[in-house]
Amino acid sequence: MASLVLFLILLVAAMSTPAAHCHGNVGFKLKLTHVDAGTSYTKVQLLRRAVARSKARVAALQAVAAVADPVAAARVLVTASTGEYLVGLAIGTPPLYYTAIMDTGSDLIWTQCAPCLLCADQPAPYFDAKASATYRALPCRSPRCGQLYYPACFQRVCVYQYYYGDTASTAGVLANETFTFGAGNSTKVRVPNVSFGCGSINAGDLANSSGMVGFGRGPLSLVSQLGPSRFSYCLTSYLSPTPSRLYFGAFANLNSTNTSSSSGSPVQSTPFVVNPALPSMYFLSLRGISLGTRRLPIDPLAFAINDDGTGGVVIDSGTSITWLQQDAYEAVRRGLLSAIPLPAMNDTDIGLDTCFQWPPPPNVTVTVPDFVFHFDGANMTLPPENYMLIASTTGYLCLAMVPSGVGTIIGNYQQQNLHILYDIANSLLSFVPAPCDII
Ligand SMILES: *[C@@H]1O[C@H](CO)[C@@H](O)[C@H](O)[C@H]1NC(C)=O
Ligand SMILES: *[C@@H]1O[C@H](CO)[C@@H](O)[C@H](O)[C@H]1NC(C)=O
Ligand SMILES: *[C@@H]1O[C@H](CO)[C@@H](O)[C@H](O)[C@H]1NC(C)=O
Ligand SMILES: *[C@@H]1O[C@H](CO)[C@@H](O)[C@H](O)[C@H]1NC(C)=O
Ligand SMILES: *[C@@H]1O[C@H](CO)[C@@H](O)[C@H](O)[C@H]1NC(C)=O
Ligand SMILES: *[C@@H]1O[C@H](CO)[C@@H](O)[C@H](O)[C@H]1NC(C)=O
Ligand SMILES: *[C@@H]1O[C@H](CO)[C@@H](O)[C@H](O)[C@H]1NC(C)=O
Ligand SMILES: *[C@@H]1O[C@H](CO)[C@@H](O)[C@H](O)[C@H]1NC(C)=O
Ligand SMILES: *[C@@H]1O[C@H](CO)[C@@H](O)[C@H](O)[C@H]1NC(C)=O
Repeated sequence: MASLVLFLILLVAAMSTPAAHCHGNVGFKLKLTHVDAGTSYTKVQLLRRAVARSKARVAALQAVAAVADPVAAARVLVTASTGEYLVGLAIGTPPLYYTAIMDTGSDLIWTQCAPCLLCADQPAPYFDAKASATYRALPCRSPRCGQLYYPACFQRVCVYQYYYGDTASTAGVLANETFTFGAGNSTKVRVPNVSFGCGSINAGDLANSSGMVGFGRGPLSLVSQLGPSRFSYCLTSYLSPTPSRLYFGAFANLNSTNTSSSSGSPVQSTPFVVNPALPSMYFLSLRGISLGTRRLPIDPLAFAINDDGTGGVVIDSGTSITWLQQDAYEAVRRGLLSAIPLPAMNDTDIGLDTCFQWPPPPNVTVTVPDFVFHFDGANMTLPPENYMLIASTTGYLCLAMVPSGVGTIIGNYQQQNLHILYDIANSLLSFVPAPCDII
């Protein structure tokens, strides 16, 4: 009888752990470290590096757009290997701490595993599955294996292979492990059975980190595997020494940081749009752009997703400078040239071509207007410091955006001091201005 009761308790316990969302309400907050934090680059080098990384990421997008077949394109994930922000986490039992690139453009969580057939240098030791008590390679028939782009089977174990649009790639075994998130006693959270890629054949640049953590919309991303499936971040001012913050699951809440009261602006929300060719990326519906109160003449088709999956508007944490669709860029450039009564310049050093001589002469008054993205149901108003920058060698005031022949990617320079919530369950992006250095 006692054993029957025990059996029933075990059965109930097993049933009360839903298979699809076995992790329940997980929440934590993490520091986001900028890839260039702690380096000795000068301001101008930092900006030049940011623009170069941004170009590399768009080159990856172009590589995907060049694949005519949208089904094939979906298999080449859009993201460059080098991201912009790193998160700290730990894998296994006992936990091995490491940093990884946070990537809102892809899904898989992966790290390099020993023994490595081909691995990049990384600051942490390679993860050794044999040394962890909680490592479980997934069988080929496991549902998680079926969620891979390229599921494959080797010696009855699920193997994966991911390409990142540029030369970066990772391949290895799909496995379950216990991950640890957060630092300090109060926020440390151990989560069992997180499926991840144990990569033994990897190529590309990991930006002095030891792997990647996918924050995309697909089923294998960290945010989809843990519940509730939402996250938010608050990016501090560019070049600020204060690290940015990432809030996860139950902690991701624009209310809890009380940002609306501190900024006085209401929280705004706009729905995500699905691009079937790139289902894990966060596409938005952008209707237009204003400079100040002046709506720019831009055909809304400039922001549309094309039938072949190219085009559209993505919000991304891993791109620094915004890539604006060519026609929209030209309209913004013309708008700025007429709004700012200063000689136009071309900063070939940093690679930005809508610039002005700066500072203005004493007899000229310059008012740089706000920049407004008009999304479906929400206006994102960027003050000048979120879309203009002072190029340090020339001292010019430059538009921190570059023209794109493919689609629009809203980069993290434009997201400074906004608290941005990615609510996957409700398919909504919400945001509110916030002093991210303080909260
Ligand atoms: C963390 O826990 C340890 C041991 O329980 C304690 O000594 C330490 O003060 C705690 N640290 C914080 C920041 O709470
Ligand atoms: C992980 O999943 C396996 C298989 O479903 C299960 O037996 C095990 O109890 C789970 N581990 C934890 C710690 O939940
Ligand atoms: C891996 O984790 C998933 C999600 O928690 C679980 O459904 C599955 O049973 C686990 N598999 C193994 C082999 O632990
Ligand atoms: C990589 O990061 C470590 C600390 O995490 C640092 O000591 C080292 O200098 C960095 N290396 C490079 C090449 O940036
Ligand atoms: C924020 O607060 C409002 C009103 O108090 C509530 O309706 C809304 O659901 C909250 N949002 C979140 C993400 O908790
Ligand atoms: C938000 O901030 C305002 C003003 O600082 C304060 O009065 C209010 O109590 C705060 N609300 C919460 C939920 O913390
Ligand atoms: C800026 O300079 C680059 C490189 O010389 C050139 O390709 C580009 O057309 C110039 N842009 C403008 C607006 O003059
Ligand atoms: C400002 O002063 C300069 C030199 O004194 C002169 O050439 C220019 O026309 C003036 N501009 C305006 C807008 O008055
Ligand atoms: C966004 O701005 C436009 C133009 O200023 C205005 O007509 C519209 O009502 C605003 N939408 C929201 C959601 O505030």
